[in-house]
Amino acid sequence: MTRRERILREMGLAPLWRLRDKPAEKLTDEPAVDVSLDSPAPPPALPSALAEGASLAPDSRMQRIAALGWDELTAAVSGCRDCRLCERRKKTVFGVGDIAADWLFIGEGPGAEEDESGEPFVGQAGRLLDAMLAAINLKRGDNVYIGNVVKCRPPGNRTPEPEETAACFPYLRRQIGLIRPRLIVALGKPAAETLLDAEVRVGAARGRLFEHGGIPLIVTYHPAYLLRNLTDKTKAWEDLCFARRVMKERQDAGG
Ligand code: URA
Repeated sequence: MTRRERILREMGLAPLWRLRDKPAEKLTDEPAVDVSLDSPAPPPALPSALAEGASLAPDSRMQRIAALGWDELTAAVSGCRDCRLCERRKKTVFGVGDIAADWLFIGEGPGAEEDESGEPFVGQAGRLLDAMLAAINLKRGDNVYIGNVVKCRPPGNRTPEPEETAACFPYLRRQIGLIRPRLIVALGKPAAETLLDAEVRVGAARGRLFEHGGIPLIVTYHPAYLLRNLTDKTKAWEDLCFARRVMKERQDAGG
């Protein structure tokens, strides 16, 4: 058994599935946000909560963040007090990895271990995410960037509130603008809903190609969900195979 197969088995991801040649199943009722890979890039969509949340994220704040370079953005996040999540955080969790990565994985928000360490996905869900990455020959930090919708831990690991997501979205938007990944993988419902500015059911969205600001985006289950729902790991594996195929098409097309 190879090391990779051993890891997958330990994480409950084995047996190993292999990439199929045929494209992933496409649903006939394609959502309006689906795009072909060579469409021109429109400006990134903003969650409607952001447009409405003028008190938390007025245009001037958004524009200021949209003009920041990487170091300034990092500093802005670590000093951010623009929503109540700052009150109980220990550390902000900006993101980790290759800032010129092709792959961008977006989770929900830091948990207790991430709040302690300042790095995303270092707990049990993170170990599963690492195993999922390894399954498609990817590694944290190597052409991969990992971030979250919100940069501060929601108390008790609750789902971030819309105004918290809205306040943090300009940071994520700027990260995406600076990294310019070839593919975004939204891990779970909050990430998918934030990036697609729509209500999303992960079960219905997976296997479909969306876009965020002209960048292809796919949706899959959050690793923490997979830890609780072992049977859906096979679906997550199919999603990763789909993502890998989309990435290959992008790379082959030079896009
Ligand atoms: N879950 C997330 O969504 N992000 C993390 O960083 C850790 C757990």
